[in-house]
Amino acid sequence: MPRGLFITFEGIDGCGKTTQAELLCRRLEDAGYEVVFVRDPGGTRISERIRELLLDRQLREMAPVTELLLYEAARAQLVAEQIQPALGAGKIVVSDRFFDSTTAYQGYGRGIDLALISKANELGSLGLRPDLTFFIDVPVEEGARRLHRLGGERDRLESEDRQFQERVRKGYLKLARSEAARVVVVDGLRPADEISQEVWQKVAPMLTPRRG
Ligand code: TMP
Repeated sequence: MPRGLFITFEGIDGCGKTTQAELLCRRLEDAGYEVVFVRDPGGTRISERIRELLLDRQLREMAPVTELLLYEAARAQLVAEQIQPALGAGKIVVSDRFFDSTTAYQGYGRGIDLALISKANELGSLGLRPDLTFFIDVPVEEGARRLHRLGGERDRLESEDRQFQERVRKGYLKLARSEAARVVVVDGLRPADEISQEVWQKVAPMLTPRRG
């Protein structure tokens, strides 16, 4: 069975990862690759419905384990319905967040035991692991500034306090150190086109040449 390439983007809210994921998709498409761009949580009918629950600011009473299981449930559906079929067809899948978000937010942020998180991630991802992950790192104040500039209301996770966001960022940095072969730390304070160039330099060697 052919196997495409699975690339994920991670970071705290407001880090610029969505912009970078979109830039990479455009570049891959321009180079002739078939690309599927998804967001986690989301990307399927069921996962988008779960996303609404997860981000609803009114649902303040949500218990940490409920939150964890909902993220995993949304992800399982996304993997089964979108990611696995695309990879099976040899396509490149780019995802805005994946299971590292759960380690950072529910593990380091909420304080759920990391061994439990790891098991939950294994289940929710149906055993799938990204080939390459970009962690776009910005200081918490910068992420907050960018969210503020974008305007609009903050969702349930974005409304968490600064200490929470700090734990999430530190969690990402630890995770990146422990999985250095897969996770690339990118300085998110630089101009978007420079970051995009750095991303491309990591991705390009992993691509198989297009036929025809
Ligand atoms: P997004 O706005 O980047 O799409 O992500 C939605 C929010 O969900 C964001 O604040 C991070 C959070 N999140 C988790 O807490 N755990 C997870 O596993 C994922 C995928 C996202």
